[in-house]
Amino acid sequence: ADAAPVAGRPVRAVGVAGSGTMASGIAEVFAKAGYEVVLAARSAEKAQTAKARVGKSLARSVDKGRMSAEDAARALERITPTGTYDDFADVDLAVEAVAEDLEVKRQLFATLDKVCKAGAVLATTTSSLPVVACARATSRPQDVIGMHFFNPAPAMKLVEVVRTVLTADDVHATVREVCAKIRKHAVDCGDRAGFIVNALLFPYLNNAVKMVQEHYATLDDIDAAMKLGGGYPMGPFELLDVVGLDVSLAIEKVLHREFRDPGLAPAPLLEHLVAAGCLGRKTGRGFREHARR
Ligand SMILES: NC(=O)c1ccc[n+]([C@@H]2O[C@H](COP(=O)([O-])OP(=O)(O)OC[C@H]3O[C@@H](n4cnc5c(N)ncnc54)[C@H](O)[C@@H]3O)[C@@H](O)[C@H]2O)c1
Repeated sequence: ADAAPVAGRPVRAVGVAGSGTMASGIAEVFAKAGYEVVLAARSAEKAQTAKARVGKSLARSVDKGRMSAEDAARALERITPTGTYDDFADVDLAVEAVAEDLEVKRQLFATLDKVCKAGAVLATTTSSLPVVACARATSRPQDVIGMHFFNPAPAMKLVEVVRTVLTADDVHATVREVCAKIRKHAVDCGDRAGFIVNALLFPYLNNAVKMVQEHYATLDDIDAAMKLGGGYPMGPFELLDVVGLDVSLAIEKVLHREFRDPGLAPAPLLEHLVAAGCLGRKTGRGFREHARR
């Protein structure tokens, strides 16, 4: 028989580390759900800018009639921007969303280990690095777990919850409970490159690039086929241009390295476009030309 379910640790205040796309989106998600949020970046200015970005996003939700102006104002008030991680002393959960660089993340986890109280849950949003390597940068690897959100975090419903071999059961339970409270659907997976979504998605995207490279089909026909025949909301080339060709290439390289499967080697056409600076929507040109915003 299964063991009795383990209860999570209480979470009232949440620390979010970083000031980029994911950090501001995640801060918004927690603040909307009623958590006190400490938003910490390398400088107070960066943290304030990130909070301002949350304010703009909340204002858009109000404009679209998705929330009241009062609720938006209350959510924004729950976010305290700061330039020092010392302000994480009282958080029950710290979520790290800084640059995707293992040395940067390991240093940050060493800092979290110093400043966070005993029993705080320490989470990383890494897309491709081993969660266990972050855990090993602390003196409390049992408290470290992955919470892989999707971009944009306020809109995307999924969180991949990544346990390492060292993660404690009540830490896992805490994160599952928090996901329910922020109204995200949590799925569990192991600490392996790509988790569930990227491990299945990127080999598919890479195979689509290979089809074009081999002149087997055109990109317009492949996009149409996968939307109309596969039921996908976007075709593979539309999606690659949105995600960014450089980001996609980096993920494919990680998958190739981890699984040592020659079929996972990035398609040369993708590498070529990245070398040419055609990175997708963000540069105005990827697989297709895009009007600059
Ligand atoms: N963008 C996505 O689609 C997505 C989705 C899921 C998870 N993630 C993960 O979220 C994390 C953040 O990604 P992002 O897209 O928000 O990136 P981003 O480039 O928007 O933000 C990265 C942030 O890290 C900060 N930073 C850089 N070096 C730092 C350092 N030494 N110390 C502290 N902060 C530093 C930068 O100032 C910036 O605010 C990454 O681990 C990424 O893999 C991204």
